[in-house]
Amino acid sequence: MERLDKLLAATGRWSRKEAKALVKAGRVLVDGAPPKGPEDKVDRAQTVTVDGQPISTRKYTYVMLHKPAGVVSATEDPRERTVLSLLPPELRRIGLAPVGRLDKDTEGLLLLTNDGPLAHKLLAPVRHVDKVYYAEVDGSLTPEDREAFRAGMTLADGTQCLPAELEPLEEPGRCLVTLREGKYHQVKRMLAARGKPVTYLKRLSMGPLALDPALPAGAWRLLKDGEIAAFEE
Ligand code: URA
Repeated sequence: MERLDKLLAATGRWSRKEAKALVKAGRVLVDGAPPKGPEDKVDRAQTVTVDGQPISTRKYTYVMLHKPAGVVSATEDPRERTVLSLLPPELRRIGLAPVGRLDKDTEGLLLLTNDGPLAHKLLAPVRHVDKVYYAEVDGSLTPEDREAFRAGMTLADGTQCLPAELEPLEEPGRCLVTLREGKYHQVKRMLAARGKPVTYLKRLSMGPLALDPALPAGAWRLLKDGEIAAFEE
């Protein structure tokens, strides 16, 4: 059981104050009936509507962020702007954290959630969740680069990488890289080891979740039910 205003705020669409006002204005129904007040306890199995539209009563919140360059993948930082600072205040108060990290200058898909078990599952090294990146490099990519990625590279410091996919794109110096792990600066280090330093990097997908092409850099949206369900498969 959860307080109605808290449940509404957890959707990220309203602050707690706005949620209270919605209830007081009679715009919220629980199982078709008006609640007594914002502090009413609601069961997640009940149907909650706002202006007649059902809202999610999920326990956890899942946010897709198109991370822009220049922000760090952390919830707080003494000096740098964080990915959390790109979210509205109501989403900054519910314990969301990024699932994995992108470098400060890397753009693209970042999932934020307060679903600890899911984050753990996606990050567990044994799970080998595929992550696809678009990269631009100095130099042109060759079939030998592709073979080296496929074979599993050993970096200069002895780091052993799992076999990965490198797919050169038509335009020289552009490629897609698929990793099944997430070592520190991995894409940059693998390409640098081939003598092709990365000049631009963007994550396109993580497991079944793809960056929504309608989201510009810096924008976010809540995951859709189907996207959440895909993680549970
Ligand atoms: N690999 C990198 O080098 N940087 C990232 O941000 C992600 C993967």
